[in-house]
Amino acid sequence: MKVLITGASGLLGSRIFETLSREYETIGTYNNKKLDKFHFLDITDKNSVEIFLIKTNPEIVIHCAALVDTDRCEEDKGLASKVNVEGTKNIVENWWDYKCKMIFLSSDFVFDGKSGPYYEDDNLKPVNYYGLTKIKGEGLVKQKLEDYLIIRPALMYGADEYSKPSFITSVLEKLKFEERIYVDNKIMKYPTLTDDVVEAVRKLIDLDLSGIYHVCGEEGITKYKWAKKIAKFYGYSEDLIVESNEQSKAKRPLNANLDSSKIKKVIGNLTSVDEGIRKTFKTKFAKKYNFKIIQSDQIPLEDRTSYGGYSIRRLFTETIDTLAENIGFYETTICPNSIVKNHYHKHSDEILYFFNRGSIRIGSELVSINQNDIVILPRGVPHEVISGNKEIKLLAIKIPNIPEDKIIC
Ligand SMILES: NC(=O)c1ccc[n+]([C@@H]2O[C@H](COP(=O)([O-])OP(=O)(O)OC[C@H]3O[C@@H](n4cnc5c(N)ncnc54)[C@H](OP(=O)(O)O)[C@@H]3O)[C@@H](O)[C@H]2O)c1
Repeated sequence: MKVLITGASGLLGSRIFETLSREYETIGTYNNKKLDKFHFLDITDKNSVEIFLIKTNPEIVIHCAALVDTDRCEEDKGLASKVNVEGTKNIVENWWDYKCKMIFLSSDFVFDGKSGPYYEDDNLKPVNYYGLTKIKGEGLVKQKLEDYLIIRPALMYGADEYSKPSFITSVLEKLKFEERIYVDNKIMKYPTLTDDVVEAVRKLIDLDLSGIYHVCGEEGITKYKWAKKIAKFYGYSEDLIVESNEQSKAKRPLNANLDSSKIKKVIGNLTSVDEGIRKTFKTKFAKKYNFKIIQSDQIPLEDRTSYGGYSIRRLFTETIDTLAENIGFYETTICPNSIVKNHYHKHSDEILYFFNRGSIRIGSELVSINQNDIVILPRGVPHEVISGNKEIKLLAIKIPNIPEDKIIC
């Protein structure tokens, strides 16, 4: 089956593309953020949309492309309407030609947040222009198409490899530099892990279901309390999170609590706030910001015992040569039952190579370490090394920066 994903360069579209590519033939589009694996498409250009759809001839279109910045939509209503309403219209307009299924991404902002929980068929009433454009988009889909899915997620977060940072990653970017973070403590949010939405899309396609589905986290929390949890989990000072009284340009629904029991019958429970922080930590940060543990059995036998360049050289293709002069190697022994206290490095990434078993706490996550494991800790990540009842010998390698594309493990 051929699946077209508009907005594949965005937060959700990129995850949908990655996941569905394992099962289906997928075509992804970008608009401004050029990525070689995707095709350029401007959904506001009616002719190009038509030509693109005829050329690609998909069986399913997952329409993620949108102007999502709620304040920007309020400031530039013309653009918001052009992208979110006209853009959607351009896709559904000639639908009779394509005979495929449309999956439209709507939003919790189609409700005013005054009398939740909201069910799929409740009356729609927005408090801002972005919400209005989503209602109009939904209207076009319902009016013009027979086979469609409308999915309404709430505030999404998760791995954001190509897209704008989502909440957890943007909070961490600031915490890393000990910057204060000013966040709202009045509006109730229902954080939704992108992977839950991806799973919903995947299962709904598999089961060939249609209609409207809410896919929202079930725990209400303000951004302030959420940011505090993030700081605590990662071992940063919670005092850096400060309540903000700043008024946003667009009004927000105070409590857009969407009932997700319908989708739960299809995908099971949605990820809780705490679990979401842990999952994001393990997937995204292993890749970009934080640590990576290489289990010893993944390292070729001949590399496990040698160090001083060689085994590490095997981990970083040619990078090591260009960085060699700046790399510091430090061999350390940690006595039994002791801790190298919580610290982080401001100016260098670090690789820890463990000669014996032990454990390391990264943020508030305690991780067991096997003999010959390697832990990669990009700068700014708080950690402490804990020895068990035996001493730990480890090699610490400090590198000014590990270019992400050079991490081959
Ligand atoms: N993020 C949330 O918290 C949230 C919550 C509820 C619902 N939603 C809905 O979920 C969907 C995905 O959201 P997201 O957070 O993944 O969005 P996002 O990260 O902001 O990505 C938006 C995507 O739309 C593309 N795009 C923008 N203007 C375009 C145009 N004129 N023509 C073609 N493509 C265009 C962007 O391409 P470039 O980046 O390449 O320019 C990008 O790929 C949206 O419909 C949004 O309304 C999002």
